[in-house]
Amino acid sequence: MTTPTIELKPSAHPLSDAEREAILANPGFGRHFTDHMVTIKWTEGRGWHDGQLVPYAPLSLDPATTVLHYAQEIFEGLKAYRRPDGSVATFRPEKNAERFQRSAKRLAMPELPVETFIEACDALVTQDKAWVPAHGGEESLYLRPFMIATEVGLGVKPANEYLFLVIASPAGAYFPGGVKPVSIWVSEDRVRAVPGGMGDAKTGGNYAASLLAQAEAAAKGCDQVCYLDAVEHKWVEELGGMNLYFVYGAASNSKPVIVTPTLSGSILEGVTRDSLLAVARDLGYDAVEERVSVDQWQRDSENGSLTEVFACGTAAVITPVGTVKRAGAEWRQSGGEPGEVTTRLRQALLDIQRGTAEDKHGWMHPLG
Ligand SMILES: Cc1ncc(COP(=O)(O)O)c(C=O)c1O
Repeated sequence: MTTPTIELKPSAHPLSDAEREAILANPGFGRHFTDHMVTIKWTEGRGWHDGQLVPYAPLSLDPATTVLHYAQEIFEGLKAYRRPDGSVATFRPEKNAERFQRSAKRLAMPELPVETFIEACDALVTQDKAWVPAHGGEESLYLRPFMIATEVGLGVKPANEYLFLVIASPAGAYFPGGVKPVSIWVSEDRVRAVPGGMGDAKTGGNYAASLLAQAEAAAKGCDQVCYLDAVEHKWVEELGGMNLYFVYGAASNSKPVIVTPTLSGSILEGVTRDSLLAVARDLGYDAVEERVSVDQWQRDSENGSLTEVFACGTAAVITPVGTVKRAGAEWRQSGGEPGEVTTRLRQALLDIQRGTAEDKHGWMHPLG
């Protein structure tokens, strides 16, 4: 056995079972946090050190801490699920760990070893296992690993000190009343990411940049924004927090094909997106990565060859798209209802995550 690098200093005052159960009865999303968190420091010349599991608590930061001024920050999101036998497993944590390393590299931050990322998540989930909702529904425990630059001082340069943390929040079913399609506003002027920028990194600045476009989408009566490429304003990229898939041929006798935009450097490489390429092939569909233009999206929806569209990400797994609006046009996908291929894919992936279907790709990471 390797020596654990995370020292366990659990809380003397965790919430009572009754208080925790009251929260788990209606957790919502991102509103409640478990009793503990993991912290690991990085210092130039010393590397990663002082890994600890400690009671969840506020951070104390000097007002001149660099992250507060220059946004040197990255994060991840993954889930732990309760299995039918009561045990708990996380879904593909190594994929999140690898993306966290890519994000770190892009923001000139130190790369946390994959095994340390997984060890930190495991330590928190094991300690706060009682916070993982019961098996049966779509509830889960959402894990939020993140890293901030903690050097104190003004001046734009990579910091010489960082803090990595993992916190956890119980997440209710994304669609408590049954899966409901979302409406999408295609933004043809605002962009999320540019070539050579940091669109493929999971960093807070990308989300701050999306808020105004999101407000504009809401003013158009839409739930989400779809971004196009920043050069030609033509190629579909993704939503503010989810990747996109297009389903062709579901209404004909031919085999359905699911198409997701090619990773362009400005699209976040979603773990769900990657998993669905494999799940689709398992279900006998073709799955390809290709560029899709917004004109093609509109035309193929109107001529009936594009039968379904869905978004995907850790939070909702799969969200069907019902209505699409762009300047001067509006159309519906699969009659505004969740499509058949969308529904099958969603169920197949959820069954693997919740441990009710065979994990033939070895994606689940069980905790001791
Ligand atoms: C911009 C963006 N795209 C796509 C995704 C989907 O990624 P994943 O499937 O890894 O959750 C997310 C969520 O993390 C995101 O924030």
